[in-house]
Amino acid sequence: MCGIVAYTGRGDCKNILLSGLKRLEYRGYDSAGIALLSPQKKAYTVTLVKEAGKIRELEAELAHTKMKGHCGIGHTRWATHGEPSRENAHPHQDCLGQISVVHNGIIENYAQLREQLEAQGHTFASDTDTEVLPHLMEQEDSNDLLVAMQKVVKKIKGSGAIVAIDPRNPQQLVGARIASPLVAGISKNGNFLASDIPAVLEHTRRFLIIHDQETVKVTPHKVEIFDKEGRAVKREPFKVNWSISSAQKGGFADFMLKEIFEQPQGVKETMRGRLSGGQLRFEELNMDEQQIKGLKKIQIIACGTSYHAALAGKQVIEKWARIPVEVDYGSEYRYRDPIMVPDSLLVAITQSGETIDTLAAIREAKKRGGRVAAITNIVGSSAARESDAVIYTHAGPEIGVCATKTFTAQVMVMYLMGLYFARIKGTITEHSYRELMEELDAIPQKIQEILNGSKQIKKIADRTSRYACFLFLGRVYSLPMALEGALKLKEISYIHAEGYPAGEMKHGPIALADKKTVVVGIMPQDAVYEKLVSNIQEVKARGAHLFSISTQGNDRLAKNVDDCFHIPPAAPALSGILTVIVLQLYAYYIAKNLGRDVDQPRNLAKSVTVE
Ligand code: AGP
Ligand code: GLU
Repeated sequence: MCGIVAYTGRGDCKNILLSGLKRLEYRGYDSAGIALLSPQKKAYTVTLVKEAGKIRELEAELAHTKMKGHCGIGHTRWATHGEPSRENAHPHQDCLGQISVVHNGIIENYAQLREQLEAQGHTFASDTDTEVLPHLMEQEDSNDLLVAMQKVVKKIKGSGAIVAIDPRNPQQLVGARIASPLVAGISKNGNFLASDIPAVLEHTRRFLIIHDQETVKVTPHKVEIFDKEGRAVKREPFKVNWSISSAQKGGFADFMLKEIFEQPQGVKETMRGRLSGGQLRFEELNMDEQQIKGLKKIQIIACGTSYHAALAGKQVIEKWARIPVEVDYGSEYRYRDPIMVPDSLLVAITQSGETIDTLAAIREAKKRGGRVAAITNIVGSSAARESDAVIYTHAGPEIGVCATKTFTAQVMVMYLMGLYFARIKGTITEHSYRELMEELDAIPQKIQEILNGSKQIKKIADRTSRYACFLFLGRVYSLPMALEGALKLKEISYIHAEGYPAGEMKHGPIALADKKTVVVGIMPQDAVYEKLVSNIQEVKARGAHLFSISTQGNDRLAKNVDDCFHIPPAAPALSGILTVIVLQLYAYYIAKNLGRDVDQPRNLAKSVTVE
């Protein structure tokens, strides 16, 4: 995810782009840049300024750069390919430094395209996937940038909102949308392209949405849209009447809620390029088949929410790939003189890539000669740099302190990894493998279905917000989600909550159950469902309020509990990524009812860089 803004018109392009980028900074903030078409005697040239770091670094650089022009593009990056650096910052250019491009998304076939382009003599200046775009356009050798763009989008696989400029067409912006968002803004003083409406809302309220697979040509007086076949599309602009601050959160009340609703996309982006045409790919692991077949043990290290993703990973890796998995907290691992088994793999899960306890565990493992793979959401983070291999979750930047969409992306990586290992080791039948692959494909849609039921979850939260104690119960695949549900509620509502294996209740925690307690039973249809039914009845008998999360069609249970939410049917091993969505929304609505600041809960920080 990153932010794009582009303008052509009479206004002061440099400042329009800069203020647009500041509004887009929430979408990415590791580097930024702008390119402007500047008049030079009779022709136009491109002036390019880019900087690593936040927008303020770019702003400081621009303050002492002479830059004039009325047509240009800007980008704030959130790296997916190539570390955050000045070289990798957008815009990227062709060999002649003419065609300049900004891009938001991932080009899956970039390695192959780059190889071909290099063989044809193109030289690359960055490690990004994006840079293939200007070179491909250059290759088209067309004086018409729109035609070049239309040909290039047919050659790329993946996702992207793309905007390009070329000094040979000095008043023109050309854009394309493949999945990633792109809007056009229309004003008397000129026209815009941007990743979202707030980026240019201070200049205009009239917008057109560019749809998937469309291309667009923008001049100071006209916005022309074309479909996949290059035919002109007629579309009427609409008027926006909401404010900038609400718009930055996409119309949601908080970043946390917005991020919860972004999960279908986050999970899809994480699968992109790794699961396609029924095949799984994990080149990033840097392990050949022999090494995977010879794995004796996997040690997963993480903290907080990422620790719960690790627990979910243990279950599926052991079940499908039959490799023993041990999970440990980063803060414990480093101090307990761990045993480094030969032929083992240490997997560190950390969304920020900067959690000091997890980093210390990575360092400890490396010191003992271990092989380390990091799973992180931040390209170029310390965990990414210090590990032997890195697997990126492509959830997009998470602003809320409470992890939501990064968690489901981590769990998705665990599912993919488990199946990948199982496939190579031959520990799963062809039939189960195919079935699970199909089920994985359907996960984003099922998450969406749950999100569509958010009003029902809110009602349950409204009824139960004033209870003093919450027990989240689950077994097997639902256990990591029970722990995660309790952590979500604790951290944003400040209510006492515990996640527990349902069968353990009778060994102590059941003493807590009384009329002031809510018991959340996470009980989708699986092998332990009937056991859960008995476990929750035991607490109901002590007067607790019962809220169950079960599978659609289970109406019998609904009659025996106080509140019930149904998730779509799914393979038991994959149900966790669905039940946790209900728990995130439940915690969110309770915290809101109590007037808490869900995006910045007390005593917490987004990345914990102290011990
Ligand atoms: C999650 O909601 C918390 N904010 C916290 O537990 C977090 O998961 C933990 O600090 C680990 O962070 P990391 O994934 O960035 O390493
Ligand atoms: N894949 C591009 C890069 O890494 C764009 C990333 C983005 O969408 O933020 O530069």
